[in-house]
Amino acid sequence: MSERLWLVVPAAGRGRRMGGALPKQYLALEGQPVLAHTLARLHQAFPAARLCLCLDADDAHFDPAWVPFGQWRRSEGGSERADSVRRALEAIADDADADDWVLVHDVARPCVRVDDLVRFYAALKRNPVGGLLATPVADTMKRDDGRRHVASTEPRDGLWQAQTPQGFRYGLLRRALGEARVRGGDITDEASAVEALGLAPLLVPGRRDNIKITHPEDLALAGHILAAQRDEPPSSPGHLHEETP
Ligand code: C5P
Repeated sequence: MSERLWLVVPAAGRGRRMGGALPKQYLALEGQPVLAHTLARLHQAFPAARLCLCLDADDAHFDPAWVPFGQWRRSEGGSERADSVRRALEAIADDADADDWVLVHDVARPCVRVDDLVRFYAALKRNPVGGLLATPVADTMKRDDGRRHVASTEPRDGLWQAQTPQGFRYGLLRRALGEARVRGGDITDEASAVEALGLAPLLVPGRRDNIKITHPEDLALAGHILAAQRDEPPSSPGHLHEETP
């Protein structure tokens, strides 16, 4: 089995839900752009991995000094996240083998913990399909009636919130995203494309502080999370791995 690891980091979004002119991956978090935090965490966990960073063709903010990896390349983003990831997989086709592992991690998740990244990859390698970090849903779930009134309360048993990284073997992921494109429809993560092939990705319990910066208030929250993580004693369990849904 191949031990080569690729990291694909989609960073070609415009972050419209954040509202500002600067895409969210370039907003300052503790004095550094979000993108630099995310890449630093990935590098701490996987210093020997090869990185493919998806950037918008018109990106005027990116600085290669923020990339700590020795082996890396950039690929052009697509109109949707799945298009960006698909293009990244095409961009590495000359080097990647079908059995290589590819971890896809959103640039907008700078708080992912290094030990979770390492644990996630170890769990993947024991699984034939691949999988994703996820957390059991904690809140009561409501479905609306389209007019902001509750139509029903959905049972949350067995429901998980998908995070990234999501990891699959190169050949499988490329086929899954290729077939998803032909089928059409909204693909917001890699796992759903793999599920559509009839396969069952592994849910690896993650932590709730692996937030995705999406709305303006998330940036301050990410700052608090980074500070709290720094203050934790090194061996602190401080997580919810074994929590039941
Ligand atoms: O917009 P959203 O938060 O769902 O984006 C998730 C991730 O996908 C972000 O890291 C964003 O930069 C990336 N993305 C991308 N290409 C797009 C849209 C989003 O690389 N066309």
